[in-house]
Amino acid sequence: MSWLINSSIGRKFIMSISGLFLILFLIFHMLMNLVMVFSMDAYDMISEFLGANWYAIAGTLVLAAGFIVHILYASLLTLQNQKARGNDKYAMSNTKDASWTSKNMYVLGFTVLAFLALHMIQLWYNMQFKELIGAPDAISKGSELVVPLFKNIYYVIIYLVAFAALWLHLTHGFWSALHSVGWNNTIWMKRLQNLSYVVASIIVAGYAVVPIYIYFFYQLPI
Ligand code: HEM
Repeated sequence: MSWLINSSIGRKFIMSISGLFLILFLIFHMLMNLVMVFSMDAYDMISEFLGANWYAIAGTLVLAAGFIVHILYASLLTLQNQKARGNDKYAMSNTKDASWTSKNMYVLGFTVLAFLALHMIQLWYNMQFKELIGAPDAISKGSELVVPLFKNIYYVIIYLVAFAALWLHLTHGFWSALHSVGWNNTIWMKRLQNLSYVVASIIVAGYAVVPIYIYFFYQLPI
């Protein structure tokens, strides 16, 4: 098993598997958020149901582990690449692809991480964390936090900028992950690149709809 840490292929493999796992979470989270566009009450029912139950906490822990592994390995690979002066780029061994995105995956990932820190403080901390520690002001209805957040144009802009970074990160990351787990023959290369654009665009559009809908169209109940 030491090849997973010691070899460059092993590290890329872990990077890919953790990335694909995080993409599954992104799809699930995006679908749940989209419920807000159809019914705030339905969204509140789901967020109250998830709350701080043992399965939601277990899910959070597994997810946190996924993020930690992904970030640690990204740092390892970036350091390794810098040492190799770009000769052994992340998942790039068979191609000459050196697009802006592929060269800036770490910076883009870092931008997403900065967004995530803000996001956790604004939402997760006030919901799951406070419920977990039994704080009396814990919020169980997601809309009570999300609606005021997205009625503020500055946060709408910050979130949309973060989604743009996420889009760039995913367009390269998804393709690179499939490539690293072995899907790398020449015919499929182009198709997978196109597929990455489609998948990243669907995920990010799903996220972007929510702040735009709330800011422009959602009427606060009187
Ligand atoms: C419209 C955009 C988004 C909305 C409305 C939204 C909403 C929320 C809410 C309400 C929570 C707290 C749920 C709870 O703890 O019970 C949450 C948690 C979380 N969000 Fe988001 N989110 C959005 C975008 C994103 C994006 C783009 C990412 C990742 C890049 C993300 C990652 C997370 C994570 C990791 C958690 C913690 C999950 C857990 O506790 O298991 N969110 N989000």
